[in-house]
Amino acid sequence: MAALGEDLLGIVNKLQDLVFNTIGNDSLDLPQIVVVGSQSSGKSSVLENIVGRDFLPRGSGIVTRRPLILQLINVPTEDEDSPEPHTGAAVPIGDQPTDIEKQTRNLISEYIAKPNSIILAVSPANVDIVNSEALKLARHVDPLGRRTIGVLTKIDLMDHGTNALDILSGRVYPLKLGFIGVVNRSQQDIQGNKSLAEALKSESDFFKHHPAYRNMANRCGTQFLAKSLNTTLMAHIRERLPDIKARLNTLMGQTQQELASYGDMHFNGTSTEISTKELCGGARIYYIFNSVFGNSLETID
Ligand code: GDP
Ligand code: MG
Ligand code: NA
Repeated sequence: MAALGEDLLGIVNKLQDLVFNTIGNDSLDLPQIVVVGSQSSGKSSVLENIVGRDFLPRGSGIVTRRPLILQLINVPTEDEDSPEPHTGAAVPIGDQPTDIEKQTRNLISEYIAKPNSIILAVSPANVDIVNSEALKLARHVDPLGRRTIGVLTKIDLMDHGTNALDILSGRVYPLKLGFIGVVNRSQQDIQGNKSLAEALKSESDFFKHHPAYRNMANRCGTQFLAKSLNTTLMAHIRERLPDIKARLNTLMGQTQQELASYGDMHFNGTSTEISTKELCGGARIYYIFNSVFGNSLETID
């Protein structure tokens, strides 16, 4: 199964919860993965494969589940005049503003402009990469391509005799984190109830046996994408750790003072959320940091 499993998601979620329940906002710039791509480019499929579960509602334009780190955004295509809005829940449906596409673009730009956002720019391999709306938007906020991962979907649907080697090897469009090609389940696969496990297996076989990709098969596919994402996220979390620690220390000091001023009033919080008591004891924070950083705990001491 893919590497970006429940562990990392769970850890980041815990961290988001912790920060939100103590500091009360997300000013710590915890990492966030923002998935952008035009409609049907394969965003949901990519995420399902990465997370290893069919948990994402198909067809929804945008999915925001705080504290889940994933957001899906459909980039409206500039020249399309589809009667159907591309945006799902991003803007009020009942009262469509006339500049809906512009608003959507602004919203996307807002998400991906945050330096803590890792942009998964999803582009289908069977459409000229020059026309990728996802890459256009990503380039706008990340001109040096430092925090954009290019995901090339539908490699299996490319015209016979063509391949994506130029793009995947970074010769066409420079991104520090590179381009990763994937093969997701087709519509037919989904209708035939092909499981995620089967899909990952056939994806892996596709790259291993394809004459154009077999030499780079270990740098293709969902598993490699998950691994890259994992590494990038972990690096980001580690980078943010000193700041998180400093802020939590300040907060603990404040809370202790406040508690002292209450005398021996009792706290009997039974919730699983971070309570003031747990905060003062510090045990919970220790636990969470420990689960995030394992043996590197001394670095936050
Ligand atoms: P989204 O709108 O960007 O979330 O795109 P979806 O993930 O819903 O995919 C749109 C359609 O393309 C679905 O029918 C998928 O089964 C299909 N699809 C996505 N990725 C691939 C791929 O790599 N290969 C093939 N053959 N079909 C794909
Ligand atoms: Mg989708
Ligand atoms: Na796109």
